[in-house]
Amino acid sequence: MGANIFVLCGAGISQESGISTFRDQSGLWENHSIEDVASPEGFMRNPELVHQFYNLRRRQLKSVIPNKAHYALANFQKIFSGKFLLVTQNVDDLHERAGSCNVLHMHGQLRQALCTSCKFQIYYEEDLSLSTECEKYKKKGSMRPDIVWFGEVPYFLDECDEFLQTTDLFISIGTSGSVYPAAGFIQMLNPKARSIELNLCRTEISSFFSETRFGKASEIVPKTLNEVIEGYK
Ligand code: OAD
Repeated sequence: MGANIFVLCGAGISQESGISTFRDQSGLWENHSIEDVASPEGFMRNPELVHQFYNLRRRQLKSVIPNKAHYALANFQKIFSGKFLLVTQNVDDLHERAGSCNVLHMHGQLRQALCTSCKFQIYYEEDLSLSTECEKYKKKGSMRPDIVWFGEVPYFLDECDEFLQTTDLFISIGTSGSVYPAAGFIQMLNPKARSIELNLCRTEISSFFSETRFGKASEIVPKTLNEVIEGYK
């Protein structure tokens, strides 16, 4: 059981919980322009619009719950005795609510706000606006959603890079592999490492994986993790 396992998740794992993905039909980027709602320039141009976009998504978290894939990962983390790193590109908190610990949110979190002036980060469940005050800086107008926008550097890249060097098994769940640097993790593995892609369908990076399994996350994630744990017994 001395193996090192890296799991990378994307929007597909939360789709069955009712959270829209980004690039599928009727995904979030169908109806919104990335430049407007997911870039620092968009926030400077129209902060009200950006706050409204993320406020709606933050409110939605109150009405969704984790699905079997989130629970399977949380359970796996409890019983696996090797090293396990769970990295998500998702900004929801469904992994934590399913019981996972130490989840690295490389694209930030909806339930976290960031002060653009003093970089203070705070857990935040309610709506953000231009009149939200930074608790540390004691000024209004500087709080933004703690989401990594296009053109910004994702969080935890050093931790990911370091773990990837010793990863024995890399599992990618429900990500289209179209946003870097996460999409490039598969190419940073040791050539002897095993890699499994779990998705509804093939992605732009499927050919880099040693195995690909298609199906809904709620079905293929528990099944695959059971096989993995059996294999290490
Ligand atoms: P995408 O919307 O690009 O891709 C979602 C993937 O999930 C697709 O490959 C789908 O086939 C798959 N999928 C959908 N439903 C599924 C299900 N029930 N079971 C299994 N797979 C399913 O989302 P991401 O790859 O996460 O970044 O996008 C990466 C980043 O792009 C996001 O973190 C976000 C976005 O722009 C930022 O906002 C910074």
